[in-house]
Amino acid sequence: MVPLKALSLFYLVVCAVALPKIPLSKRDDLLASMKRSGVLSNINRLKSQIAKTKSKIQTGLAAFEKNTGNVHPAVSGKFSGTFTATSNNPAPEKLTSISKRQTEPLTDFEEDLWFGTITVGTPPQTFTVDFDTGSSDTFLPAVGCDDTCDGHTLYDTAASSTAVNTNDPFFLQFGAGNATGTIFTDTVTVAGLTAQSQAIGASNHYSVEFEEANFPPDGLVGMAFESLSVFGDNPLFSTLVNQGTVPPVFGVRLTDSGSELLLGGVDPKLFTGAFRNVSLIEEDFYATALQALEVNNRIIATVNGILPAIVDTGTTLLIGDVDGVEILYSAIPGALDASGVLGPGFFVVPCDNIPTVGVTIGGQSFNVAPDIFNLGVLEDNFCVGGVVSSEGIPFWVLGDIFLRNFYAVFDQGNALVGFATPT
Ligand SMILES: *[C@@H]1O[C@H](CO)[C@@H](O)[C@H](O)[C@H]1NC(C)=O
Ligand SMILES: *[C@@H]1O[C@H](CO)[C@@H](O)[C@H](O)[C@H]1NC(C)=O
Repeated sequence: MVPLKALSLFYLVVCAVALPKIPLSKRDDLLASMKRSGVLSNINRLKSQIAKTKSKIQTGLAAFEKNTGNVHPAVSGKFSGTFTATSNNPAPEKLTSISKRQTEPLTDFEEDLWFGTITVGTPPQTFTVDFDTGSSDTFLPAVGCDDTCDGHTLYDTAASSTAVNTNDPFFLQFGAGNATGTIFTDTVTVAGLTAQSQAIGASNHYSVEFEEANFPPDGLVGMAFESLSVFGDNPLFSTLVNQGTVPPVFGVRLTDSGSELLLGGVDPKLFTGAFRNVSLIEEDFYATALQALEVNNRIIATVNGILPAIVDTGTTLLIGDVDGVEILYSAIPGALDASGVLGPGFFVVPCDNIPTVGVTIGGQSFNVAPDIFNLGVLEDNFCVGGVVSSEGIPFWVLGDIFLRNFYAVFDQGNALVGFATPT
């Protein structure tokens, strides 16, 4: 047992020597692309992103049940909140056609990804990875992978003296496809911090969502809790914490440039003022209690029961349930249901009157700035809203559209997430 004092001194020394900061890159910015070239030409990317979030969450929920022996409370019905509108607005009318249909082929298929670098093995092999707070496993394309891994850097387990084959196969379902391979353990270094015997999925097949054309980084590092791990093993960040390398907290800034992940604390350069902290109601995903929806700083609907909202760096939009999202847009003057034009769950709002949409979580309200909420012009005076609905996800998902408004802290030790004003 290391005395607490010695531990904190150790952290101080470690932090002073090498700040465990990971600059995050962004190759293809879906949100910027929509503003530039129109929402319609990017709509398939958005839809595939929503589908990927949905299958990721369903995979996590299944893993939770396998790991804990319990059905997740959002699935069992223990957490099943519904919204009541504070005033009786009619549902938005349907937008049935648009006049200036864009002619670009709708085949694009990319998404917003925040990726940084890790090294794996001895001697170290370098990979770019997406850091995802909505899942818990680490996987990479491996030597011997079929052509679905083409263009990615491949993990060569044979070339690493610290790689250990567990001989356990893994299978990860993603949308239509799946990633499969064998679980190894190896040494992983991230921002100068080293995890020993970290479980890594060495993939011999990648699903289409992870092929190089659709997924610029090589692999993925899940940053959520162990109970969601399909491998039934510790996520990378938990390994670092368990091995005494960092305190169980990390800070995230997602923005067009200067994005950063800081392990073991928060980066005071990237925020001002105090954090507004929200307790987690579940430590599997980073799940908070969603209590109300707001439009222009006025509560327009409240939750009866318990409705989780998870904080997910791996999702682009703010995704809600079908009824709740309809109530939200019902309270926005001039909003129209764009499901007939863009697909299920999409709404448009007048571009000259973009609302400030907010959520109340853990008793505090957090707003999405109008220019972040606005995904871009569909035509004339209609702009697509960054809050969409999806069936098959048993809670709300606070993705990029939410996180871009804040500097966020994910504090596993105190079971909270917090949000501060970014600099
Ligand atoms: C996994 O993906 C492969 C290749 O796309 C496919 O042939 C296989 O049927 C999939 N397996 C499952 C269980 O979905
Ligand atoms: C909020 O959480 C952060 C991160 O753990 C912590 O530094 C801060 O002191 C907390 N603020 C309050 C008011 O509790």
